[in-house]
Amino acid sequence: MGRFDQRVAIVTGAGSGIGRATALRLAREGASVILADTSEAGLVETENQLPERARRLRRLVDVANEAQVDALVNEAIASFGQIDVLCNIAGIASTGQGHPPVTGNDRAEWDQVLSVNLTGTMLLIKHVAPHMQARKLGAIVNTASVAGIRSGAGGNAYSASKAGVINLTMTAACDLGSDNVRVNAVCPGLVETGMTRAVFDYARANEKAHKLGARCELRRYGNPEEIAAAILFLASDDASYITGQSLPVDGGNTASLNMPGMKV
Ligand SMILES: NC(=O)c1ccc[n+]([C@@H]2O[C@H](COP(=O)([O-])OP(=O)(O)OC[C@H]3O[C@@H](n4cnc5c(N)ncnc54)[C@H](O)[C@@H]3O)[C@@H](O)[C@H]2O)c1
Repeated sequence: MGRFDQRVAIVTGAGSGIGRATALRLAREGASVILADTSEAGLVETENQLPERARRLRRLVDVANEAQVDALVNEAIASFGQIDVLCNIAGIASTGQGHPPVTGNDRAEWDQVLSVNLTGTMLLIKHVAPHMQARKLGAIVNTASVAGIRSGAGGNAYSASKAGVINLTMTAACDLGSDNVRVNAVCPGLVETGMTRAVFDYARANEKAHKLGARCELRRYGNPEEIAAAILFLASDDASYITGQSLPVDGGNTASLNMPGMKV
């Protein structure tokens, strides 16, 4: 018996990192999975790692494109008849312009980051939630970030988008709670994935690998499977009385002000 036997889950960002780890674990725990991403190669790699018995659908979808999101949800319902779990994991840190201060913001960059991270999350909820409300059953898990709680963990557009995801998680939970649809989020700290590849590569190439995650109370960075474990908890019946919450999964990073000089 798996926690997600007979359940159908949509996972966005399933082609890499945290999304892949989440899709694989959902499938291992019995779910039928709908893998969505903009990367065909990434999706194929994830699908190749699924357990053979897992029912699956693989679709190229830009979460910021409402017509594509609508089509994905319709296809999921046509194929599986229901959607029990939605994991909003697709996200971007920037469009490659670096992290300028707010005075140096490029409008197109700002729009793109907000559009994928925040609007994309909203669009999936908008199109999936009515199917959950109709059955009075569903769990949605969004992916925010420690960057949505504090400054200093990414560019200002990224931080604003993730703060938006934290608030959208609360407002959506309030809109959907009376229909027994729960909405929660995880706030990962530093995790080694495609998104952070350049940071890890730079640190390792410059003898700074020991600094990666060193400011976390657990003194290390996280791995995608540790974030997936928290996402599955929030998506599962084990979290049946939890909604509207954003859970830091960050090795204690946001638990501390970590002021220089205050610790040996
Ligand atoms: N890695 C970290 O340290 C970290 C920390 C906090 C939060 N997060 C969040 O975790 C989530 C997953 O990121 P990750 O670290 O696994 O990065 P990743 O780059 O490895 O994976 C992100 C995936 O999202 C996909 N994607 C990007 N734009 C898309 C779009 N418009 N439509 C559909 N798919 C799209 C990418 O193709 C990629 O496969 C993101 O929301 C990210 O902001 C990551």
